[in-house]
Amino acid sequence: MTNHDWMRRDLEVLWHPCTQMKDHEQLPVIPIRRGEGVWLEDFDGNRYLDAVSSWWVNVFGHANPRINERIKAQVDQLEHVILAGFSHQPVIELSERLVALTPAGLDRVFYADNGSSCIEVALKMSYHYWRNVGQPEKRRFVTLTNSYHGETVAAMSVGDVALFTETYQGLLLDTLKVPSPDCYLRPEGLGWEAHSRQMFAHMERTLAEHHASVAAVIVEPLIQGATGMRMYHPVYLRLLREACDRYGVHLIHDEIAVGFGRTGTMFACEQAGIRPDFLCLSKALTGGYLPLAACLTTDAVYQAFYDDYHTLRAFLHSHSYTGNPLACAAALATLDIFAQDDIIEVNKPLARRMAEATAHLVDHPHVGEVRQTGMALAIEMTADKARRTPYPWQERRGLAVYQHALSRGALLRPLGNVVYFLPPYVITPEQIDFLAEVASEGIDLATRTSVSVALSDLHPNHRDPG
Ligand SMILES: Cc1ncc(COP(=O)(O)O)c(C=O)c1O
Repeated sequence: MTNHDWMRRDLEVLWHPCTQMKDHEQLPVIPIRRGEGVWLEDFDGNRYLDAVSSWWVNVFGHANPRINERIKAQVDQLEHVILAGFSHQPVIELSERLVALTPAGLDRVFYADNGSSCIEVALKMSYHYWRNVGQPEKRRFVTLTNSYHGETVAAMSVGDVALFTETYQGLLLDTLKVPSPDCYLRPEGLGWEAHSRQMFAHMERTLAEHHASVAAVIVEPLIQGATGMRMYHPVYLRLLREACDRYGVHLIHDEIAVGFGRTGTMFACEQAGIRPDFLCLSKALTGGYLPLAACLTTDAVYQAFYDDYHTLRAFLHSHSYTGNPLACAAALATLDIFAQDDIIEVNKPLARRMAEATAHLVDHPHVGEVRQTGMALAIEMTADKARRTPYPWQERRGLAVYQHALSRGALLRPLGNVVYFLPPYVITPEQIDFLAEVASEGIDLATRTSVSVALSDLHPNHRDPG
């Protein structure tokens, strides 16, 4: 069976996520036969370096022997068990380790099975907390512009992806949106810290005015990922923590994308020296193997639900696969690798290499910015370097980079005009150089010509390379 055979069968029956399926009249679907380390291999024997960690989940490579072993051992013991009324060793051990690993005070772990559901848990828990403590009027959520928190209905509501919020407007919760501290948009001459600090004034005003009706503020700490890897300074998080305390509002950190070393520290909140009231984790939690998410919270929140049965104050949320043992085993193996191999330290020279390998792009006539936080590096293509004008989405410049990279053996999947690297941590310095070379060529190609808008009937999408 070749790529073509599998693609034909695929297109007969599948509907792919966040995809305009008509695109596949021109773009091949790439069926993957096997993975090893940073590499994915298709049925024709082509290899692709997975520069985006397969939607940011993979940290220690595909088919990692240490994670494989742990899952194999677990599957012979217990594949799954209901988590209500029952428990199991991997979920208990994982909870203990997450509590120990995260900032002091996050003492309770509630599980879901994907990132969006984890956001639903945090939002519901915050809302329900205020109800339980006799302040039901605190029911709204404050969120940043340009944010992304997933694609279930409440998660979309607290996000700010225009295509989603316009399309699904009729379904969404009413939220309060505050301008993002996104440093790409800072005035010339202003540093990240000063800009992030200045932008906090908007948040302060919103909380001052609305705190009586607000349950929580939700943010993607340090990097707004899906909307273009836009970044900001940790000072914003510190100011936000102080303000949430002052105004009696919860702080939800969505570290689903940035947790587990992506920002250079195990968790982004460490860089601000703060503890959120809810910490949402998923993606890299299982090393990219199995769906699992964890919402950590404080004892104060937990105690607001802890009461006699007939008070009906218990938290109302469950998923069939909550705390699945195989996923927990994969997570335990992942945490072992972080600890045993001192990954946060090991990543530092890799992050420097990403910066060095792409430094020349700063002078590219159509690159507005090369930005980096830890192991996330983004290169923003722009139509006008001086004004940082974006290319019209209809031109799909990112798609040209994506296609070029595939032809060179790399899975680089830009977010609109933003080419980025978010690689597995098992990448080598030489592989980083290779990615930088492929990205440079792709950016040259994509920005050199005027691109025809043959696919202009398609919508811009945050998670496709449009
Ligand atoms: C910051 C953030 N929150 C939530 C999600 C949603 O996670 P999932 O795709 O597992 O539902 C994502 C996914 O990209 C994300 O980046």
